[in-house]
Amino acid sequence: MNKFFSYGKQTITQDDIDAVIEILKSDWMTQGPTIAKFEKVLCEKFGGKYASVVANGTAALHLIALGLEWAKDDIIITSPITFLASANCAIYVGAKVDFVDIDSKTYTIDPEKLEEKLKLYAAQNKKVKAVVAVDYAGHPCNWDALKTLKEKFGFQLINDYCHALGAEYNNDAQYAIKYAEAVNFSFHPVKHITTGEGGTVLTNNEKLDKRIKTFRTHGMTKDEFFLEKNDGPWYYEMHEVGFNYRITDLQCALGISQLSKLDKFIARRSEIARFYDDIFSKDDRFIFPYVSKNVKHAYHLYPLQIKFDQLKISRKDFFAKLKEQRIIGQVHYIPVHLQPYYRNNFGFKPGDFPVAERFYEREISIPMYPSLTDEDLNYISSAIIETLNKSV
Ligand SMILES: Cc1ncc(COP(=O)(O)O)c(C=O)c1O
Repeated sequence: MNKFFSYGKQTITQDDIDAVIEILKSDWMTQGPTIAKFEKVLCEKFGGKYASVVANGTAALHLIALGLEWAKDDIIITSPITFLASANCAIYVGAKVDFVDIDSKTYTIDPEKLEEKLKLYAAQNKKVKAVVAVDYAGHPCNWDALKTLKEKFGFQLINDYCHALGAEYNNDAQYAIKYAEAVNFSFHPVKHITTGEGGTVLTNNEKLDKRIKTFRTHGMTKDEFFLEKNDGPWYYEMHEVGFNYRITDLQCALGISQLSKLDKFIARRSEIARFYDDIFSKDDRFIFPYVSKNVKHAYHLYPLQIKFDQLKISRKDFFAKLKEQRIIGQVHYIPVHLQPYYRNNFGFKPGDFPVAERFYEREISIPMYPSLTDEDLNYISSAIIETLNKSV
């Protein structure tokens, strides 16, 4: 057996391949009818009025920033435990990034600490423009608390939902769009469903949707809503500079096929999590992912904390030993405020967000994807435990 196990991986079957081949044989490889079809099924599944499918999840965040008119020196807050793009999207439009530490149980932004920060800004007569809250690993944030803060302090609320497709909050699988004015998705192959590269913005705001659809294709529009005049069917106008952030029909066909299997994928991810929980909860060298009572976790990741600080093996050596056994973990994430760019340009430093930093020291994302068999899970969990046992 020479299978290797990465922390995440796509599940592609013949029906996905057939769906892409059908588009290859059709008239439209890009800018065709499959774009709107994918947008329609995304709206149906996730409950939003409008979806714009785009080149990747980072483009989706950039378009949200442009669409919601974030501007120079606006303050945008996110979590330090996220992918770079959740913060970088603010930099793209000249805004300023700040962070709020995570909750030690759910690893999502801590609403109490957010309130403290909002009060500090308010005391200096500064207003926070937006909060990009990340449903980290697939555990929804405390959206009720975030909504209360939004109403009190008047910021825009964005759900960086890339990890949480299939999650539920208060028994609602369509919660994301009910709390946030814009929700962004990524369809990178490690995510729940894939289009190779791809992303989406979901919103109920018609004006925002129109702006995003314009910005995703160079700022060009044929929409009467924006036109100053109309010379004929060929006519378009450009009012603001946009980008080519389009996605192809090939990718959207794959996306439609993948989305039809999301529930099945989530069910298997949940089984895998129960298997891991059962093993790692019995051993106090580990902290396994907590799930709040009102939440169904989507398990994009299985973030296992290992108390390396109390063990004789470093995380680096542990990684190397797992790799010898064909298990390729990953760490999600290096706290964004500790990246040289954020330290050098914004003055962040170690110690600023201690819960996130401690989490980073202990976290490893172990293999989590639907095609893992029970035999694979036995192999992976035994390798993790045996490797630690041997290091005493
Ligand atoms: C939380 C989060 N936000 C944004 C992104 C960006 O998505 P993409 O890789 O599709 O650009 C990712 C992807 O890794 C992510 O995990």
